[in-house]
Amino acid sequence: MARLIDGKQISTQIKEELKEKVSVLKQQGKEITLAVIQVGADPASSVYVRNKKNACEYIGIRSLAYELEETVTEEELVRLVEELNDREDVHGILVQLPLPKHINEDLIIKTISPKKDVDGFHPMNVGALTIGQPSFVSCTPAGVIQLLKRSDISIEGKECVVIGRSNIVGKPMATLLLQENGTVTICHSRTKNLKEVTKRADILVVAIGKPKFVTKEFVKEGAVVIDVGIHRDENNKLCGDVDYEDVVDHVSAITPVPGGVGPMTISMLMNNCVESINL
Ligand code: GUN
Repeated sequence: MARLIDGKQISTQIKEELKEKVSVLKQQGKEITLAVIQVGADPASSVYVRNKKNACEYIGIRSLAYELEETVTEEELVRLVEELNDREDVHGILVQLPLPKHINEDLIIKTISPKKDVDGFHPMNVGALTIGQPSFVSCTPAGVIQLLKRSDISIEGKECVVIGRSNIVGKPMATLLLQENGTVTICHSRTKNLKEVTKRADILVVAIGKPKFVTKEFVKEGAVVIDVGIHRDENNKLCGDVDYEDVVDHVSAITPVPGGVGPMTISMLMNNCVESINL
């Protein structure tokens, strides 16, 4: 029977540690502030933004909410980000993605000061991560590393396979696993013989964006499986990129959906916010 990697419990533990750090900073007269910008009213984005604000409140981080109309211009958004860059009382800036089509996301990400880029999306932070220098790290892959470490699953020397090559998850995930001395392979839509490659993995991270795509034919017996996906299945139940029921008795450890990687993303965002006060 597989061990369940409990993301909810581990993320709670991290939030408690951060709460303690924030209270020490407060005693030193330091208050952390995160500015959260949402453009338009996409329901999924509204849920994510609300969860981020609630986590801030829980930990003791001040959050400033900017809710902009869908019709805001690119220049207006750039101006707001620049204003926040210049404010000494603002330590972190988060622009919730996706943005409306008339706004260039790359431009907005580049406008955020790398020192306030708590999402870790700025090219300077991505570059710093790649060459092993201190940087803000994208929250979901950083959360996966914490899940593994805090579950005493060692990465060094392991065959690590990542399915998915997005800038937010797949690529930084591979970089972080490499930094932990894993032997890393990235698979994507053009990979030939996907199952053969994924079956080599001691640690398989799945961020493919397709519900229940990974079945036990993709997984070596006894592997560790980390499921980054989140979807609703045909019965409107939450599910991941991995067919959990199919693989659970075949692996040594697995993250459930919900309650696996999901809760870790916000905890790692809070961790980045706490670090932002020192920059
Ligand atoms: N949209 C979906 N995930 C994210 C995230 O991690 N950060 C931001 N800014 N937007 C998102």
